[in-house]
Amino acid sequence: MKEIIDVELKARKVDFSRCKTDLLAVGLFSDAKGLDKLCGELNKKLDGAISQLTKLGDFKGKDETSAIVYGNANIGAKRVLLVGLGEKKKATLNTLRKAAANTAKKSVEMKAENISLALHRAFGGQFDLSTMGRIIAEGTYFGSYRYDEFVTESEDGRLDSLSVELIDSDSAKTKKLNKGLSSGSIIGKAQSYTRTLANRPGNVMHPPALAAEAKKMAKSTAGLSCTVFDEKQLAAKGMGGVLAVGSGSENKPRFIVLKYSPTSGAAGRLPTIGLVGKAITFDSGGISIKPSAKMDQMKLDKSGGIAVLGTMKAVAELKLPVSVYGIIPAAENLPSGTSYRPGDIITTFSGKTVEVQNTDAEGRMILCDALSYASKQDCDIIIDIATLTGACKIALGKYMAGLMGNDEKLIKQLQTAAEQSGEKVWPMPSGDEYGKEMKSKIADLKNIGSRWGGACTAAAFLREFVGDKKWAHLDIAGMDIFEKATEFSAEGSSGFGVRLLTSYLMSLV
Ligand code: BES
Ligand code: MN
Ligand code: ZN
Repeated sequence: MKEIIDVELKARKVDFSRCKTDLLAVGLFSDAKGLDKLCGELNKKLDGAISQLTKLGDFKGKDETSAIVYGNANIGAKRVLLVGLGEKKKATLNTLRKAAANTAKKSVEMKAENISLALHRAFGGQFDLSTMGRIIAEGTYFGSYRYDEFVTESEDGRLDSLSVELIDSDSAKTKKLNKGLSSGSIIGKAQSYTRTLANRPGNVMHPPALAAEAKKMAKSTAGLSCTVFDEKQLAAKGMGGVLAVGSGSENKPRFIVLKYSPTSGAAGRLPTIGLVGKAITFDSGGISIKPSAKMDQMKLDKSGGIAVLGTMKAVAELKLPVSVYGIIPAAENLPSGTSYRPGDIITTFSGKTVEVQNTDAEGRMILCDALSYASKQDCDIIIDIATLTGACKIALGKYMAGLMGNDEKLIKQLQTAAEQSGEKVWPMPSGDEYGKEMKSKIADLKNIGSRWGGACTAAAFLREFVGDKKWAHLDIAGMDIFEKATEFSAEGSSGFGVRLLTSYLMSLV
């Protein structure tokens, strides 16, 4: 099976009724009075089939719903997909992104290979057309994604590619839509790449395999370089945190450093950004072992690190004029005779010592080395992303990531990027009160706090390792996975973070 479905996107000037296609998608708001111009005309050609559906209440235009009407001799489309957009006053770019994803998912399920989208039409002039092109491309990749690279016996086959055209009868509009498609495709593809690597299980995507993949990706992407430290180099550098966590596994830890240097543009004026991502390729908890139920989901504990890898790919392909480091500490957390244990005192890369009270609080043990490494590079801003705490998932659920940090402006910028990317965040504290809980009596710090506010104490621990750099922390526990498929997504990795971080970096330019 192919790693991801190829998606080909272009905008084309064509009259919707003459457009020959397997599926034509149009959007409808739930609170619209009657059908808009496009749907009204379509309805006529379809002998009133659309108004029949809405009058019967079988389709109400609600968010995350859709309905199919089959084509007839009056139109070129074999099917018309009505996509619900919810209430017009609540419409955002994410409404459009989800509608595109919903359409792509249905198309792949129906094996409709050539599809035409008129989804932008319902939004009128609310958003800029080039932005809408980008959003539709991102959504199309997102919805068409599925993970099946290890399925050798597929019952009814699947699509290898999806050919998508955005249609409008005005060529000035298709021109603008086309502009956004190329960046949207880069971002969408990078997110699908991230989802595939994250979905790979622990026996396949262990730290050395992840490092090899990072090298391979960097080699084939202009502007990227990649250095990997193996366990011997980690020892020589004194990266005690990464080594401790990785010590229980035969799959030795790796420390991956990617660098993107723009070839042109105004890089001089812009800050250099360090992205740091937790890549625990499997988290059993170690000696403080986790309960067995759903432990398989802990193959996704590398999601933050892989989101950084996908973001580096996107940033390089977008040729953004900003310098970016991608720092990915990778280890496997397993119990064995060589594992680190509760009670151990570890000397980290920063020189600070940490008393291990729970080997399942391993994310912060690898991130502390990566954050102090980042703080010693020439970056002005550090952003880390990690499936760090179950406590964050309890606090915010599966809809928003926790956002902590030490710089108001950076927090605001990330909140804006979250709105634009549809990858939502919510601010949480990580200040002195929480920091005090992380002091140890027998070392500088300990790796767990009290029972309460676990996401905040974890962030307070990380804060100790960023020196005086501006820093933000994204706790994406709960955001890394769709436990079940939704209207607009396959189950498994969400690729969360690629769109958010890329939006942030684009906003700097
Ligand atoms: N990877 C987990 C956090 C996690 C939990 C991610 C659920 C996604 C879903 C992390 O390494 C962990 O085990 N954290 C512990 C910390 C505790 C021991 C202080 C937790 O949250 O229980
Ligand atoms: Mn853990
Ligand atoms: Zn973990």
